[in-house]
Amino acid sequence: MNDYQSLINWYPGHMAKTRRLLQDQIKRIDLIIEICDARLPLSSRNPELKEMIARKRHLLFMNKSDLADPNLNKAWIRYFQDQGIEAYLTDANRMRGKETIGLIERATKEMVDKALEKGIRKTVRAMIVGIPNVGKSTLINRLYGRSVAQIGDRPGVTKSNQWVKVSPYLELLDTPGLLWPKLDNQLSARRLCYIGSVKDDVVDLGDLTVHLLEDLCEIVPRNVSERFHINDTSLKGAELIEAVCAGRGWLLKGAQYDYDRCCSVVLDEFRAGKLGRITFEQPEKQTVRENEKDD
Ligand code: G4P
Repeated sequence: MNDYQSLINWYPGHMAKTRRLLQDQIKRIDLIIEICDARLPLSSRNPELKEMIARKRHLLFMNKSDLADPNLNKAWIRYFQDQGIEAYLTDANRMRGKETIGLIERATKEMVDKALEKGIRKTVRAMIVGIPNVGKSTLINRLYGRSVAQIGDRPGVTKSNQWVKVSPYLELLDTPGLLWPKLDNQLSARRLCYIGSVKDDVVDLGDLTVHLLEDLCEIVPRNVSERFHINDTSLKGAELIEAVCAGRGWLLKGAQYDYDRCCSVVLDEFRAGKLGRITFEQPEKQTVRENEKDD
C-alpha cells in the first residue's frame, strides 16, 4: 500500500530552486501565469505561490480543460472568479500563441496604459509557473511558435533565466517555474499520481491503478463498463482489476491475469482521455448542481 504523502522526497530541491528563481526575478516580473490541471483544480495548485507573488498581476490557466468535465470546468471558473482570481480554461495543445498573447495583453493593459500616460511604452515580462506535467512547456512552446527573438545568450546554450521576446512588447522568462504540489492528504496525493504530476516510478502502480479504477467506477461507471467490458462497477480492489483483465483479455499463459499490462493500459487510457472527460474535485457539490440548472 502506498503512502502517497511520503512520496515526494525530491520536491524540497525544486522548492528551493523555484523560490530562488522567483526571488531573483520577481522584481522584473509583471505577470505570473499559473497553470493548474483542470481535472484537479485545487490539488494541482500550490497555495504558497500566493505569498510569493503578492502584489503581482496573476492569471490562472486551468489547462487540459479538454480532458476535464465541461460542466465542472464552468463551475470551477465561477469558483475562482468568486475568489477574485482571473481564471481561464485552456488546452495548451490546441491553443494558438496569438490567443494566449491576447489574454496576457488584456491582463496587463492597465499597467501598460499607465506607463503610456507617462510617455513610456512598457514591455511586459511574464513568467509561467506550475507543478509538473500541467502543460507549462507546451504553453511556452505555443508562445514560441511565432518568430522569437532570444535576448542575450544564443538559443539552447543557456537554458536558465533567459528572457525571450514573444511579441514586440512582451517578454517571457523561458524557464518555467516548477512548483511542488501540496500534498495535504492521501486523496490529493494519489490523484496527483493519476494525472502524472508525481512520477509513476515512485508509486506502486498496482495500488494506484486499483484506486483509479475505483474512482472512475464512481464518477463514470458507464464509461468504465464499456471501455473495459465489465458488468459490475461496484467491484473493489483485486476483484475489480481482475474483472478488467478478464474483460479486455489481458491474460498470461495459464489464464493468469496480466496485472502489469492492465496497470499500464488503464493509466495510459485514462491520461489520454479515453475514459471520458473527468474532474476529480468539485468546488461545492450542491452549488454545482444548482448552477447547472441555470445553464
Ligand atoms: P510541464 O512542462 O508542465 O511538465 O508539462 P508539459 O508541457 O511537458 O506537458 C505534459 C504532457 O501534457 C504532454 O504530453 C503534453 O502534450 C500534454 N498536454 C499539455 N497541455 C495539454 C492540454 O491542454 N491538453 C491535453 N490533452 N494534453 C496536454 P506528452 O508529451 O504526451 O507527455 P506524456 O503525456 O507522455 O507525459
